[in-house]
Amino acid sequence: MAHGEKSWEKRLAGGTDELAVNFVESLSYDRRLYKYDIVGSIAHAEMLSAVGLITKAEFGETKKGLLEIADEIAAGKFAFDKRQEDIHMAIEAALIAKIGEPGKKLHTGRSRNDQVATDIRLWMRDQIEILQTFLTKLQRALVKLAEKHTDDIMPAYTHLQRAQPVTIASYLLSFVEMTARDWSRLKACRKRLNVCPLGSGAVAGSTLPLDRPMAAELLGFADITYNSIDAVSDRDFCAEFIFCCSLVASHLSRLAEDWILFTAGEFAFIRTDDAYCTSSSMMPQKRNPDMLELIRGKTGSVYGALIAMLTILKGQPSTYNRDLQEDKLHVFKAADVTEACVQMAEAIVSHTRFDTKKIADGLDAGFLDATAMAEYLVVKGVPFREAHGIVGSLVAACEKEGKTKLADLPPEQMQSACGKIEKDIFEILNPAGVCKNYKTIGAAGPENARAQIKYWKEKIKEQ
Ligand code: ARG
Repeated sequence: MAHGEKSWEKRLAGGTDELAVNFVESLSYDRRLYKYDIVGSIAHAEMLSAVGLITKAEFGETKKGLLEIADEIAAGKFAFDKRQEDIHMAIEAALIAKIGEPGKKLHTGRSRNDQVATDIRLWMRDQIEILQTFLTKLQRALVKLAEKHTDDIMPAYTHLQRAQPVTIASYLLSFVEMTARDWSRLKACRKRLNVCPLGSGAVAGSTLPLDRPMAAELLGFADITYNSIDAVSDRDFCAEFIFCCSLVASHLSRLAEDWILFTAGEFAFIRTDDAYCTSSSMMPQKRNPDMLELIRGKTGSVYGALIAMLTILKGQPSTYNRDLQEDKLHVFKAADVTEACVQMAEAIVSHTRFDTKKIADGLDAGFLDATAMAEYLVVKGVPFREAHGIVGSLVAACEKEGKTKLADLPPEQMQSACGKIEKDIFEILNPAGVCKNYKTIGAAGPENARAQIKYWKEKIKEQ
């Protein structure tokens, strides 16, 4: 088979239409699988020699030829020809051109169907580890920033309205918690996909005595798949991987949204480094958070990939159909975009500072201590619903009298609203006092923030 010629030339007369050649090819994007395809082929050939389907010498020549091809591709010296359709055919044809007869035996007991399913799994195992590494770096940056702010207070929002005071550290650690779930979700995804479909052939397996566990072991898989019909068309792991990416992107997008708001003049809570801002072509004063906006915007591409992948899978008849070739476009897209976003998020987090003075100056607005006051009354024996009403009426009184803080009300006025209120109320009627008083595990006060920082530092080390 000459380079450029196809293995089924004997079956289908005449060349493929030019339009069809361009339409059917995946070489333009699946070439990035080349290393995995070659590693998979070497394992397959080693197994073929172990069961006596090729000789040891043929395996040696095949391995040598495949490694040379890997070097040629890596060096940019490989002539890709899209008439070969995909990376699997391109490498096989090059091998045959290079070593002749033994090359023609490589595809023994194998179809591109089980081959590509194996390749994607091999690629994805590595890609998951890359994403996990970047997620860990991001977590480290968040923990580092949190360490600086265990005692600095900021407002937490619900419905984007000022709600309760929290430490800046606790706020930052919320993203560590989210990305930790992302990390372990990816780990679970990797574990589930780490089974080898090689040997499932086109759909029904093979009449040849292939040693499937051997090939799987050579490739570092934990197990083999056990139903050839399912194995050749299972792309659940692709959908699952993109879903994992989607949640990573979702978490980063929410961080980006917060920080875009926080850089706005109205908040001015943070200042990101100039290196991660752009200006306007028209308005000379502008300092725009474009990187954060792009993290938010790129999330759309990842979600798009998920919907595309799920839609490709829906309604395909059993088993392999060429529709599945499109899987890689979306899996690659999701992986690339997510990787870029995690990297960018880490860089921004590492180069952002919180303006604690500006944040502290604004803490008196919004009655952030109101809930803590109601809980103070609960401790004094007032039923919570009643306490809620009492504090609500005091907040209304403040607003009516133009007072911005509950602490500005005269003690007598408080006592006439509820006799249980005593002087010690003033210890908690300020954001720092409230935060110090948080008692529940996981609460957003300084003590818990310190404990969480300790926990995450250890945990991250183990990852
Ligand atoms: N390029 C194809 C893919 O990515 C390889 C499998 C083709 N199999 C086939 N029977 N045409 O799915």
